[in-house]
Amino acid sequence: MSTYRIAPSILSADFARLGEEVRNVVAAGADIIHFDVMDNHYVPNLTIGPLICEAIRPHVQVPIDVHLMVKPVDRIIPDFAKAGANIISFHPEASEHIDRTLQLIRDHGCKAGLVFNPATPLHHLEHVMDKLDLILIMSVNPGFGGQSFIPEALQKIAAVRKLIDASGRDIMLEVDGGIKPDNIAAAAKAGADTFVAGSAIFGKPDYKAVIDAMRVQLSQA
Ligand code: DX5
Ligand code: ZN
Repeated sequence: MSTYRIAPSILSADFARLGEEVRNVVAAGADIIHFDVMDNHYVPNLTIGPLICEAIRPHVQVPIDVHLMVKPVDRIIPDFAKAGANIISFHPEASEHIDRTLQLIRDHGCKAGLVFNPATPLHHLEHVMDKLDLILIMSVNPGFGGQSFIPEALQKIAAVRKLIDASGRDIMLEVDGGIKPDNIAAAAKAGADTFVAGSAIFGKPDYKAVIDAMRVQLSQA
């Protein structure tokens, strides 16, 4: 069984108590903090930036996984690296030069990831597998938490799992959007190893109960 990682998305957290929220969700068993950045240009919503990343950095030791839903993307990468990001992922539609953007992320000491919307084809992967530490498959259209899981994402996850295994490279396969205890096993069976969950965790009375339920499902996947 591969090492599964649970990455709560703080988009659904209580922003009036964000430091406490990230401490609590890590204490409840979270492996990664998923940090959704939206610019109201690439996606129709506006969220958080490097200042908030810097603010939560001292509260957690786990990796901060910055998901950039912004366009253009290059200018903001050094700011997130400086603010304490460990992983930075972006959408191929948001960069004129995907290879250069991936290199820019790594040059600033972060792991580099590429994010695929439901309708984005996987051919962008063809010439950059050697520059990738993470591939993120969206199982919702980006911009909001609390949406329903798009089951067609499972075939895409399986296709990416084949590509990663064929490459022999240590690349995380992350799924993001509508992940709950009742569908996380299907995503794991398809080949995902890292699971973003926002509204399934934040807003619930007991973070550990939800994360434990997800781990039970994963152990049976
Ligand atoms: C959506 C974000 C997701 C979202 C997940 O654009 O990239 O990370 O916050 O939230 P849930 O798990 O509620 O779908
Ligand atoms: Zn995300």
